Amino acid sequence: MKIVEQIKQPISYEMDLFEQKFQLAMASKVALLNRITHYIVNRKGKQMRPMFLFLVAKMVNNGEVSERTYRGASVIELIHTASLVHDDVVDDSNRRRGFFSINALWKNKIAVLIGDYFLSKGMLVCIDNNDFDLLKIISVAVREIVEGELLQIEKARKLDITEAIYYEIIRQKTATLIAACCSLGAASVKPNTEDVERMRKFGELIGMAFQIKDDLFDYGQEAIGKPTGIDIKEQKMTLPLIHVLNNCSKKEQDWVINSIKKYNKDQKRVKEVIAFVKDKGGLEYAVTKMKQFQEEALLILNNYSESEFKRALILMVNYVIERKK
Ligand code: IPE
Ligand code: IPE
Ligand code: MG
Ligand code: MG
Repeated sequence: MKIVEQIKQPISYEMDLFEQKFQLAMASKVALLNRITHYIVNRKGKQMRPMFLFLVAKMVNNGEVSERTYRGASVIELIHTASLVHDDVVDDSNRRRGFFSINALWKNKIAVLIGDYFLSKGMLVCIDNNDFDLLKIISVAVREIVEGELLQIEKARKLDITEAIYYEIIRQKTATLIAACCSLGAASVKPNTEDVERMRKFGELIGMAFQIKDDLFDYGQEAIGKPTGIDIKEQKMTLPLIHVLNNCSKKEQDWVINSIKKYNKDQKRVKEVIAFVKDKGGLEYAVTKMKQFQEEALLILNNYSESEFKRALILMVNYVIERKK
């Protein structure tokens, strides 16, 4: 059995039901909106966030989920989708999940509005059911995503990013949402318990590893359903490059910075920078850091006794860093 199927086995009933509820949560009476939401629903992502959410809920609550858990899963996937639609505008990216991005097909104006629509739909799933505790967790994550994206833009302009700031950016733009989905999973069934904070921390650590993996993909050539090799073009410096910059001569530093500043659209030069980062061990360093976050996350699971849900979560943690897309 494939690893993803193995992970989904203990939550297969919940994931099926979630899909139905998610589609309902997206529906609209406006024809153009419905056309676009159909386009999105037909090109599903990995759905890792709902998977984390259901597995956490079942692990902390003896295998039981509630209606709140389903709502939490819908909200998180709606917010995640909104963030991707907007991210592709911000990054000027034309591919997502193996197909054209929303901005590539319908242009930026519509993509901005579609993202806002999903954001509001997500908030309303909570509000309509008085899940204000869940809404609070989600709203903090949304604020942090925006702050992380803006910090990233600021650093791309100044090219003065450090390793510590890189971690702060990825914690905000990616890890907080995965932290939110793990704490939502716990809060949906056991509100106001220590599980909620513990699972938030677990999700945050995994989220860090997840984004480092995503940044490593950008250095590869594999088909992952979205463009690779675009980070340097966008003047986005990620962990492999930051590490190499910290460990090379002044002359090499100047060459790298100058390449990113002035030659970021020159394909040949970008390839040379990528080759330089690889040659200097940038990828290996990022892999080491990714594994440190992963191991720290696994330690947190030691607080829980053996169950099929815990086993699946451990598989999921490994999947985050071994996935092929
Ligand atoms: C992509 O997330 C955005 C990042 C935080 C890197 P996913 O890789 O989970 O996206 P989908 O939903 O599977 O497409
Ligand atoms: C992902 O940002 C985080 C958000 C969507 C906010 P990236 O720009 O690094 O992710 P991909 O590579 O486009 O999925
Ligand atoms: Mg981005
Ligand atoms: Mg992007």
